[in-house]
Amino acid sequence: MDITYDSRTRVFRLDTGNMTYAMGVVDDEGFLGHLYLGPGVGNDDLTYLSRAIEYPGLPSKNNRDRCSFLDFFPHEYPGEGVGDFRSPAVRVTKDGISPGIQPLYKGYRIIKGKKRLEGMPSVFGDEKDSETLEIEMSDETAGVKLFLDYTIFEGINAVVRSVRAQNTGDTPVTLNRIMSFSADMDRPGETRLMTLNGSWGRERAKQIIPVGTGFAGVSSVRGVSSHQSHPFLGLLSEGADESQGEVIGLNFIYSGNFLAQVEKGQFGTLRVQMGIHPMGFYEKLQPGESFQSPEAVLVWSDSGIGGMTRTFHELYRNHLIRSPWLHRERPVLINNWEATFFDFDLEKLLKIARRASSEGAELLVMDDGWFGRRNSDNSSLGDWYVNEEKLPGGVKRLSEELAAIGMKLGIWFEPEMVSPDSDLYRAHPDWAFSIDGRKPCMAREQYVLDLTRKEVRDYIFDMISKVLDSADVAYVKWDMNRPLTDVGTHAADAGDGGLFHRFVLGVYDLQERLITRYPDLLLENCSSGGGRFDPGMLFYSPQIWTSDNTDAIDRLSIQEGTAMIYPLSTMGAHVSVSPSQSCGRKTPMVTRGHVALAGTFGYELDMDRLPGEDSAQIRDQIALYHRYGELVREGDYYRIESWQDGSMCDCYMVVSKDKTQALMTWVQVLAHTNLKSRRVRIPGLDPDREYRIEVADPREGNDGNGNRVSPNELNCMSGFLGKTLTGATLSGAGILMPRLSGDFRSLLISFDSRG
Ligand code: GLA
Repeated sequence: MDITYDSRTRVFRLDTGNMTYAMGVVDDEGFLGHLYLGPGVGNDDLTYLSRAIEYPGLPSKNNRDRCSFLDFFPHEYPGEGVGDFRSPAVRVTKDGISPGIQPLYKGYRIIKGKKRLEGMPSVFGDEKDSETLEIEMSDETAGVKLFLDYTIFEGINAVVRSVRAQNTGDTPVTLNRIMSFSADMDRPGETRLMTLNGSWGRERAKQIIPVGTGFAGVSSVRGVSSHQSHPFLGLLSEGADESQGEVIGLNFIYSGNFLAQVEKGQFGTLRVQMGIHPMGFYEKLQPGESFQSPEAVLVWSDSGIGGMTRTFHELYRNHLIRSPWLHRERPVLINNWEATFFDFDLEKLLKIARRASSEGAELLVMDDGWFGRRNSDNSSLGDWYVNEEKLPGGVKRLSEELAAIGMKLGIWFEPEMVSPDSDLYRAHPDWAFSIDGRKPCMAREQYVLDLTRKEVRDYIFDMISKVLDSADVAYVKWDMNRPLTDVGTHAADAGDGGLFHRFVLGVYDLQERLITRYPDLLLENCSSGGGRFDPGMLFYSPQIWTSDNTDAIDRLSIQEGTAMIYPLSTMGAHVSVSPSQSCGRKTPMVTRGHVALAGTFGYELDMDRLPGEDSAQIRDQIALYHRYGELVREGDYYRIESWQDGSMCDCYMVVSKDKTQALMTWVQVLAHTNLKSRRVRIPGLDPDREYRIEVADPREGNDGNGNRVSPNELNCMSGFLGKTLTGATLSGAGILMPRLSGDFRSLLISFDSRG
């Protein structure tokens, strides 16, 4: 890891060992060019990569064609309105009029370690494992300075960027656009763009499309990162696939509106940008004031999409997620939502908990419906006091009754919301976002609280704290069930900036307060399932509810898309009933258990109401979670086959860091007639080690419907089960996975070389 500046060539280099990111200052005026991102290169003069010698040449030599130069130069942080017609990284106005902006290089600092962003999530690092470059740019006419920050980390092929804009003039200036990441990249060959798109219940499905001339990308203006698009872009170089080739991943450490786009221009250059969406964003800066952008993460991989994924996991496990729970085994939880919805009381909860505890569950999560007069989703959000009719003795009694059976308590809140039918709304209708003269748009019969106001945040925090202080609460599920509309404030001192961004800062403030006051609390974020699963939220909570859709087969794609970026330890994954309450599909209990093992494990059902052959499996499922929990949480994740890509199977595995053990999950999504076994190569193992191969789940002699697996199937498997093979053979020759009878069947296979 090394950041250098060569004063002779005026080139900056960020080297991580096998990746180089280079920028260069060009011409006397100080244009900052993006020179290179790719495999580590020699210590050569890289200035030729700016193409400044090509026609029309530098403005100092040919100012008559300055515009052609600016419109073709590979900018590192382009301005607006002065000769480059591509998307600007920054835009400012004064009294509504743009003075244009041309950020020019002024100076730099290289510092050990990583700065922490105030009031916002940010990656962290210390003086030994990280280094930061700060480049100062300025536009004197606009009266603006920009400080571009770049941090690299020991042993990780990633660059984390952010930008601070400062008003250095003597009149106010309004910032209308500030991308956290911008670079004009010159990728050899065809580039494909990967994005993660979806909807409620279908979060983060991957899409890969060729990048053509014009714009491609994703964005959200919903106030949250959203179910529909994800603040992620992947750029796949020609020939790149899961295990080979160059891949760039960009991810935004932010939980609100975002823009992530690629603009392929007239000369084939890709302008890649990521930042807060300009819609609804502005920030008026008085002389001397600054605005700090959120951080964007760039990951570079020369080992395909899989390499990109493992780098993100590494970075986030070591430099983003702060929770003390990160490396701890999370309690097996049982959540009453899908079992009861709003229809529960103390006795019902305790009955669910007693049964679950007898099977090995450790935490009861009391979901929506315990507060105010909330018996359906049309009231009481904001009234965070217990409904004693449902819970006599309050949360305290429930927690004590649970403690008596060895269980911990978790509670659901939706702190950002208010129901029109609530005491809170009746007392403070002006605390909800609305625009004067317009009746706010309802969603799930609720409004959004104006968390840009400190008194609103104080009130909500106080209410939540009272509940948490009243009992022994180990876990909080923080939900957020509608997008932002009618974003208008009624605060007397509203300030002068976009409310969408200030709302997100308000959410961060509340979550920071929560984890500071309750440092050992296990916080799980949620937004109608996975509508706000982003690295911003992971700064506060070590896990996020991945999706309201718990159908095991749909979950394969949802979890694959989520694990594209985020470690498995962050994905809430629970076993629920069959047929699925979301899509009606019937799946074997074995498969539901195996798929939920790829995350933080739990149950979303009433065990007493399960068919006997299903409930008989719970103990074994929990035992599997305890046996493989650490491996799944800490290991390296490899995708092998993807049902999303049209394969009839889905397969992935986790390999321990020391490569002594691995667990492979194999789901045969659709059965076909008269097929032979399927050869699967096993990635990630040590070629020189010998691995003993076993079925990991003792229930695998059972097809999930209580039937024995046919002798044929077992014979087919006996080709490798119980045998020992080297990592070299497993990665080259692979194993032969049997054709199972029936759809939605799964197998867990373990590889072990420990003694
Ligand atoms: C959201 C969550 C669910 C559940 C309900 C309760 O949809 O994603 O898990 O908590 O709210 O209303």
